[in-house]
Amino acid sequence: KLLIDVVTSTGSMIVVSNRLPFVLKRNEEGKLERTASAGGLVTAVAPVVINTNGLWVGWPGIHLEDPNEPIPESRPDDITPTAGLKSEKVVTVQVDPVKFDDYYNGCCNATFWPLFHSMPDRAIFRGDKYKAYTEVNKEFADRTFEALKRLVKSGEAENEPPLIWIHDYHLMLAANWIRQTAEEEEVPCKLGFFLHIPFPPWDIFRLFPWADEILQGMLGCDMVGFHITDYCLNFVDCCQRSLGCRVDRKNLLVEHGGRTVRVRPLPIGIPFDRFVELAHTAPKLLSTNQKIILGVDRLDYTKGLVNRLKSFETLLEKHPEHKEKVSLLQIAVPSRTDVKEYQELKEEIDQLVGRINGRFTTPNWSPIRYIFGCVSQDELAAFYREAYVGLVTPLRDGMNLVAKEFVACQINTPPGVLIVSPFAGAGETMHEALICNPYEIDSAAEVIHRALTMPEDERILRMNYLRRREKLNDVNYWTKSFLSAMGSLSAQEDHDEVG
Ligand code: ADP
Ligand code: G6P
Repeated sequence: KLLIDVVTSTGSMIVVSNRLPFVLKRNEEGKLERTASAGGLVTAVAPVVINTNGLWVGWPGIHLEDPNEPIPESRPDDITPTAGLKSEKVVTVQVDPVKFDDYYNGCCNATFWPLFHSMPDRAIFRGDKYKAYTEVNKEFADRTFEALKRLVKSGEAENEPPLIWIHDYHLMLAANWIRQTAEEEEVPCKLGFFLHIPFPPWDIFRLFPWADEILQGMLGCDMVGFHITDYCLNFVDCCQRSLGCRVDRKNLLVEHGGRTVRVRPLPIGIPFDRFVELAHTAPKLLSTNQKIILGVDRLDYTKGLVNRLKSFETLLEKHPEHKEKVSLLQIAVPSRTDVKEYQELKEEIDQLVGRINGRFTTPNWSPIRYIFGCVSQDELAAFYREAYVGLVTPLRDGMNLVAKEFVACQINTPPGVLIVSPFAGAGETMHEALICNPYEIDSAAEVIHRALTMPEDERILRMNYLRRREKLNDVNYWTKSFLSAMGSLSAQEDHDEVG
């Protein structure tokens, strides 16, 4: 309700993201079908687009030979927030499949993803892949500008200039092109960008040979948002050192091209109440007397899965009293399976799980249960609810929504314990979690032991604080903070973040 009130005070919004909020697939009859994506971004942003009669520009997950082929509406049984997004409000970006592969796998996933997670040894730097990145960004920019003109022409943007909100590392060059064209053709708009992954320090960022172009691209916006202040400061620092911009580190401002660009920490939240509801309604899943330590991640090398498995092995070695009483349930979602690094990681995890299970399994117990695949939202909520420990130990992570979803679903008394890595954005904001350095295998094992033996009253106290913060700073609050940072909200619509 609050969000709906808020969006009436802003102009129409155009959201631009690599993925659309749904994926298109062809069924056996060759007809297109639409499946909603369930991520936090979609849940947060879809209502704003719908309520402002806005548009969403993105890639539909399939190459359409005929770019004018009509997009189907959502299915009648679709109850996700995306269901209300009419096909006419969606602008699909179509790129030649080879070029798209160079852009998505070759540059986004093989260069920016590892580099921005401060893992430069895993990054490849290739001019041909970056060229594809620039061309695909240009394509997104052109489609977005067409969408902008369409909105202005339709009269939807009479009171306020439309707000263009670009998302993530796939589209760091788009803003500048949109701004240039909009200025040339005198079409008013406001531009905002949000990066969902970390922004690295200057000595990592400058390894990218075309680093200046990336900064210039992002500075095409009026406001650039990151999850936490550290990433904002890294960005401001890079603008100063690479481009020689005048900056104000205290107020997070960057001067560029005669304009002042605002930089803001906007930590993303989750649809907290929806997860609580799911936790109340999801059927019981785990019939076991063992304490479950739960890991939920895309199968990605940034998530620290190898270290996590080794810490669990160390726990069983050092604290044999947990044998047959505790098991690790690891859910790993297949991700970016065309990239070699991800294929190799899958092999490594398979082998490690096999080795640890081979070493400790008894006739009545296996220490690790490993699910490689997607689970439904219901099942996910049940796992979160029934776990004794939530283990979120990435080597590096922009925020990590799993940590937040876990606390939302901890509705039972006494609750479980959350362990987070200090190298995730969530480790910066979820102060009452146990902090665990995933690189230090032995001490990580001790943190897990501490969680398993924590007194009830301490568990209750910590979880109450964690839940209170995530309920207040939920995903609606995040969207509202973005609008406020864009200057699209009046003062009385703002409220203080809970620290
Ligand atoms: P990342 O964005 O790097 O994947 P996050 O933890 O921030 O990491 O977000 C992951 C999202 O994917 C969460 O919203 C989570 O609910 C969802 N997710 C993770 N594992 C599964 C799974 N097995 N099935 C369905 N959704 C999942
Ligand atoms: C991270 C990124 C998102 C991306 C998601 C899934 O959360 O920040 O932009 O959509 O991973 O990755 P994929 O490559 O499948 O889109």
